[in-house]
Amino acid sequence: PLRTDEADRYTITQRPATAEIIPGVHTPIWGYEGIFPGPTIESRRDRTTIVHHRNELPVPTVVHLHGGHTPADDDGYPTDLVLPVSGWDHSGHTMHDARARITQGARDYVFPMRQRAATLWYHDHRMDFTGPAVYRGLAGFHLVRDAEEDALGLPSGDRELPLMIADRAFDEDGALMYPSIDRTLRSVPGVEDAYVEGVFGDVVLVNGAPWPVHEVSATKYRLRFLNGSNARRYDLALEPGGQFVQIGSDQGLLDTPRSHDHLPIAPAERYDVIVDFGQYPVGTQVTLVNRLGTGSTAQVMRFVVARRGSDDFRIPAKLSEIEPLTREHASAIREFSFRAGHFHGRRGWVIGGEPFSPDRMEARPKLGDTEIWRFVADVHHPVHMHLVGFQILSRGTLPPGQFDGGIKDTVDLSPGEAVEVIARFDDYRGRFVFHCHNAEHEDMAMMANFEVT
Ligand code: C2O
Ligand code: CU
Ligand code: CU
Repeated sequence: PLRTDEADRYTITQRPATAEIIPGVHTPIWGYEGIFPGPTIESRRDRTTIVHHRNELPVPTVVHLHGGHTPADDDGYPTDLVLPVSGWDHSGHTMHDARARITQGARDYVFPMRQRAATLWYHDHRMDFTGPAVYRGLAGFHLVRDAEEDALGLPSGDRELPLMIADRAFDEDGALMYPSIDRTLRSVPGVEDAYVEGVFGDVVLVNGAPWPVHEVSATKYRLRFLNGSNARRYDLALEPGGQFVQIGSDQGLLDTPRSHDHLPIAPAERYDVIVDFGQYPVGTQVTLVNRLGTGSTAQVMRFVVARRGSDDFRIPAKLSEIEPLTREHASAIREFSFRAGHFHGRRGWVIGGEPFSPDRMEARPKLGDTEIWRFVADVHHPVHMHLVGFQILSRGTLPPGQFDGGIKDTVDLSPGEAVEVIARFDDYRGRFVFHCHNAEHEDMAMMANFEVT
């Protein structure tokens, strides 16, 4: 039984709005509170957060807290619809899901937050329609904080920057184009159907602004990167040179910091990094570039080192305690292939040869069990598991790579790769999904269920 004074409460209205994304142009969006990204929610570990969502959009919605260790009823299962307040004719829309919990107009999502500090995000998750809903703006940050992280004294206030990177395409009137095709990909043979590959834009937004410029002091900043794009992968680097010191990944702090001169980031992945702008003379323009981009997508944003700065923050050699899960802990090994397949008789994407259906259970781990899941891919697929965090055990015949550290919830599979992850299912019983986080692949049925029993 929950006393409401023991919970943090938020109210969010999902509504159509316009945003001035391109200066002087009014772009229709769907926004949490009418803004993109939605408001940033903050939670403390072990303190319940209740978010009341009201749906003033013309379509049903589903809210999922990505990276949340959330009981099944509040996890945003793809058929647990919140119907529009204005009503919705449900007759021609059979979901074939006897377990769906459909609510009219509004509902509370209750998050117990029994999890470590981490960069989470919330976004729409309706079955078959996640891509267009997120593209129109239904995404926001949800940060979790805890005592372990507080003790590190990380840069905070205006020196802590959550950065949601997302590409979009606009038509002549400034409306979002969905589906769209990245003009730079148009000439690539085989990319005849942009929707099947995933939807790409030629404008890179950071927190909803195209190629923004941000003034910084010559000191250390904490940058919390999220790739909120539907399909685009980035390889981030600093020009003219410089290191990212990674302190965290999807599910919070690493055990020890790792330095990188670039950061490959697939849809839904997060990196928590320290960048020391004190390494550049005042006046330097530091560009965050995307080494996988060409033309307009080769740049992400710019920092201008506007003033001197000082701090006594030193990155601790030890960040947190992570219990390594090893093969001996595992009571099962399961394998899932992520490949092109057929969905409603058309080209699509499937797991284990089968398109998503709420009824089919692919795995039934027992509460408390530790399992190894082996994901095999044909092309790039960023694979995400709900409910749990996992550790990466291997990439084919190779050990985990330099970017695979810490606890993650999304892992980018390379073409032809087999990646093993290990997870302990010790949070909650119930039905959850795992899926490709290329949002169009997900909508074209690359999703499946597991049930913790
Ligand atoms: Cu970020 Cu199932 O989602
Ligand atoms: Cu998720
Ligand atoms: Cu995919």
